Amino acid sequence: MPPVIHTENLIKIHKQGNLEVVALQGLDFTMNEGEFISVVGKSGSGKSTLLTILAGFDRPSAGKVMVAERDLTDMSLKDLTRFYRRDVGFVWQDFTRNLVPYLKARANVELPMLLAGVGGRKRKKRALALLDAVGLRNSAYSEVQTMSGGEQQRLALCVALALGPKLLLADEPTGELDTETSLEIYELLRGLSHQGGLSVLVVTHDVALAQRTDRIVRIADGRIATQGRMGQEELVAIDQRGMVQLPRDMLIESGIGDHVRVKLIDDGILLQPEEDSK
Ligand SMILES: Nc1ncnc2c1ncn2[C@@H]1O[C@H](COP(=O)(O)OP(=O)(O)OP(=O)(O)O)[C@@H](O)[C@H]1O
Ligand SMILES: [Mg+2]
Repeated sequence: MPPVIHTENLIKIHKQGNLEVVALQGLDFTMNEGEFISVVGKSGSGKSTLLTILAGFDRPSAGKVMVAERDLTDMSLKDLTRFYRRDVGFVWQDFTRNLVPYLKARANVELPMLLAGVGGRKRKKRALALLDAVGLRNSAYSEVQTMSGGEQQRLALCVALALGPKLLLADEPTGELDTETSLEIYELLRGLSHQGGLSVLVVTHDVALAQRTDRIVRIADGRIATQGRMGQEELVAIDQRGMVQLPRDMLIESGIGDHVRVKLIDDGILLQPEEDSK
């Protein structure tokens, strides 16, 4: 199966007046179909820039980008518009951007289908099925304004998935939510990916959330710094003073530098990089 995302030497230079910012500098990245991947990295490392290019909202300055077997590099504006409306689902960090506040939940999910010319009965059926899948069946006729943040986030997911894209891109989709609700959303995404065959790429600052995905990709200075499979385990010794030597590759992968934040959690002790922890 061809990869759902493939970039080669991707470069993006943002121009602001006569100022140039190199946001992506030769980024190579491949994502297979059905994967659930998180992208992490410091503020300004190029995460959002990458996502907007993959979504077809913006064009790269140079390099190659293939998404869902389409070459986005030299696509006409018309095709690109069609592409981002139909072939990818996008959830904004501010997920209210996905929603029309005065419409009911079901009407929100039907809207992209309405615009794409899907018939009434089919729209209703698909909207209810999607709402059901995210546990919002009972809120189908609630107005968005009356729904909680977590409910609105799940609704935003339904809107992004309304036209049945193969790929879902989400930029900090749970940035505004509490930890418990965020974990629920990640479990939902995992289910959509593992059971529904959807490819899911999320940007997050939160290491604990990233660890819920199949693979963490770290971006630094507009390039992929590390990418590895999560869940590797190693047994390390603790000496009498409580000193532990952490495996070097894990340290690099985790982005932990000179200091580490240590936190007691239900099932052990969590080590997190200074900058990323909350
Ligand atoms: N439209 C733009 N015009 C000019 N510079 C931009 C633009 N968008 C992003 N940049 C710059 O490009 C670099 C990468 O920005 P980007 O938003 O992709 O980072 P990010 O990893 O998403 O950061 P954050 O974690 O803060 O969201 C930054 O230096 C940023 O200031
Ligand atoms: Mg960003």
